Amino acid sequence: MSNIEIELPKWFDLHTHFRQGANVSAYISDHLSTACAGALAMPNTLPPVARVSGPNQDDSWSIESYREMLIEAGADQFEELIVPLYLSGMTTVEDIEAGAKSGLLRAAKYYPPHGTTNSAHGVPMEQWLGSDVFRALEDSGVILCLHGEQHGLAGAEYFDESATAESRFYQEWMPRLRESHPNLRLVCEHITTHEAVDFVRESPADRVAATITPQHLLYTVGHLIQGLRYHLYCLPIVKFDADRQALRTAVVAEGQSQFFAGTDSAPHTTKATECGCAAGCYTGSCAPQLYAMAFEEAGVDLSEESGQAKLRRFLSENGPRYYGFSPSAEKFRLVKSSAPAEIDETVAPEGTVKPLPLGMGLEVTWSLV
Ligand code: NCD
Ligand code: ZN
Repeated sequence: MSNIEIELPKWFDLHTHFRQGANVSAYISDHLSTACAGALAMPNTLPPVARVSGPNQDDSWSIESYREMLIEAGADQFEELIVPLYLSGMTTVEDIEAGAKSGLLRAAKYYPPHGTTNSAHGVPMEQWLGSDVFRALEDSGVILCLHGEQHGLAGAEYFDESATAESRFYQEWMPRLRESHPNLRLVCEHITTHEAVDFVRESPADRVAATITPQHLLYTVGHLIQGLRYHLYCLPIVKFDADRQALRTAVVAEGQSQFFAGTDSAPHTTKATECGCAAGCYTGSCAPQLYAMAFEEAGVDLSEESGQAKLRRFLSENGPRYYGFSPSAEKFRLVKSSAPAEIDETVAPEGTVKPLPLGMGLEVTWSLV
């Protein structure tokens, strides 16, 4: 097979986790090595990023202090760095209004309480709908990012053939949110189900968008179960083939503007715990390559300009447009060759992280040059 080479504007990762502590600079450096021009760094740190400004305190980072820490760890090399506010019992209308005015607050994040890693401070959606806090987000033009899963479900209600925590949330809560706050702009994070895809596609493109991870485009729950490959365990969990197909159809649709890259790259130095598994897949060192493979699996011919344009929208254009900043003026090149690329573990002071393709034994056929 002959090599394919693609040149794209540097890409943006609009959902990632850089954490805190001595490993942060290794995670940022991994992202920079993939020609990532900017990131939206999630606020589920310990303690959470639950205030907008001021120094970090025992109960919270502020967006200001967390950004400063990331910048010192190498994030100054990004063109954009967005840190959303973790919506919690600490969130106030005053903080939102002042934060939006100062420019520090550009996005806020809804976490289902106890629904994922470090989400204990989340407040249920029923308490936010119609609230002054959501009205303040709406009036200030702050984007609401959502981890869209129904919290507090057990067993068969949480994950079943007919419904999952995500499909329930998108059918029960998201239409109500869209109606109760008609000017609130939403990003449906790491969507995994055909119900979530339908919700996004039937909503106005300037109000509702979504991020999609490489793992949800590449894999299904069967891949996770066969051999219990826990490196693929993340939340929301990978779903069925019909869901993966809906995601693939959405990202490769001609001229689509609502879906963009958000890897949800989530480093865990210990994946298997004493009685369970930490949720999160690490793709920070190879995400554009994985997305290119996923687009090919979705039937896109990346040797043709029309195919490359689809990948370009998803990686480099739709995210910046939705968040209101410019795509990168710098370029990077992706090459496909018959020899698999070398993907290494990320070795950092507080522990080593295994990137997803290694955990899955996947040969990565694309590399960056
Ligand atoms: C994320 C993490 O580890 O912080 N884990 C995950 O499985 N996606 C949290 C999140 O985004 O849900
Ligand atoms: Zn995440």
